[in-house]
Amino acid sequence: MSRPATGVHLTGWGGYAPSLVLTNADLERMVETNDEWIVTRTGIRERHIARPDETTASMAAVAGLRAIATAGLQPDDIDLIIVGTLTPDYPMPSTAALVKEAIGNRRAAAMDLAAACSGFVYGYATAHAYVASGMYRHVLVIGAETLSRVTDWTDRGTAILFGDAAGAAVLSASDEPGGTLGIELTTEPSGAYYIWLPGGGAARPAGAATVDGREHFIHMKGTETFKMAVRTLGSTATAAVRAAGLTLDEVDLVIPHQANYRIIEGLSKSLGFPMERVFVNVDCYGNTSAASVPLALAEAVAAGRVMRGDRLLFVAFGAGLTSGAIALQWTEDPANAARAAAIGPADVTIAPGYLGPTNPFPTALEWIRERDEAPAKG
Ligand code: UT7
Repeated sequence: MSRPATGVHLTGWGGYAPSLVLTNADLERMVETNDEWIVTRTGIRERHIARPDETTASMAAVAGLRAIATAGLQPDDIDLIIVGTLTPDYPMPSTAALVKEAIGNRRAAAMDLAAACSGFVYGYATAHAYVASGMYRHVLVIGAETLSRVTDWTDRGTAILFGDAAGAAVLSASDEPGGTLGIELTTEPSGAYYIWLPGGGAARPAGAATVDGREHFIHMKGTETFKMAVRTLGSTATAAVRAAGLTLDEVDLVIPHQANYRIIEGLSKSLGFPMERVFVNVDCYGNTSAASVPLALAEAVAAGRVMRGDRLLFVAFGAGLTSGAIALQWTEDPANAARAAAIGPADVTIAPGYLGPTNPFPTALEWIRERDEAPAKG
């Protein structure tokens, strides 16, 4: 059904992070590192780890249900579900298909989107296009990752960085003023192998050699990624603000991809934009890839940092190297978040496949889980 072109507003938001926490002190016991180095070089203090019964789909479904409730909608109101992720439950079917069933939606189209850490911003832009064209009225965009299962826990260069989480937003058609104002997306293939998960695809199918070569884990050239990230984030952010017909002075809050505090600080310096108007929660979650912007948005709203009429800027970068930015004007009541207060993991069930159960939890982290699940002494 096509309808006239319309404005596109962010009407629902929500985040989810698993309850199991991995601290810098824990990492000190696993690899040659220390809290001071990690905090100074990255700003990260702890990250969250999915439990064995959690997957990208289950976390995505919780965040998605929260976003739908915040928007004041029912699951069946959603016309399209997009999940941005680099850690899908399976190469196929899509994680979005599993999420559709888990949230009890009977009518939406569903698909995954591969843009790594830019997945949510790319998903937002895709959802925007569907809504603006009149093809769909309400689109659920989710960024969700279980990076703990593709992290090499013996590699101190990457093990300190990543965490698991999900975040979601609902984009809806509306003729009210505000909503999406400007969008910029870029891809620079010259950085394609800076952040790379080599094994398991058509070029290097899974087998004994890819397992022995640790190819099923994230490989990263940290310094190269860092430099390209600061440069690209700045140019993408500037382009989206310009596309919105704004100047940076008119932006109330920047919500950047939470990869590294120093990258965020570098962005702030390069733009001449004050850190007081940049939202940061990388200290509590590490880099959660596609989940990071929508999770930060949900926290920023909960913290009272987002008011009706505020102009927000989302900006992300990731493997590809992809980058994207969205400028929008917020039009919702932050208090709507209360509608999602009762929603949690018990509200979603991912339909099992026909193979027997397996324990996907990383062996290297079992000791943290045992510590967490041990009965309290006393
Ligand atoms: O979503 C995108 C995902 N990726 C990123 O955002 C990553 C971007 N890059 C970064 O965040 C930074 O490059 C890192 C945090 C990964 C590394 O920081 P850096 O300041 O670029 O450090 P470096 O790699 O240049 O290493 C400096 C030193 C080296 O020792 P030497 O050669 O100077 O003796 C490393 O071996 O620090 C050493 N090092 C560590 N030391 C303690 C590297 N990792 C660690 C560690 N603990 N975990």
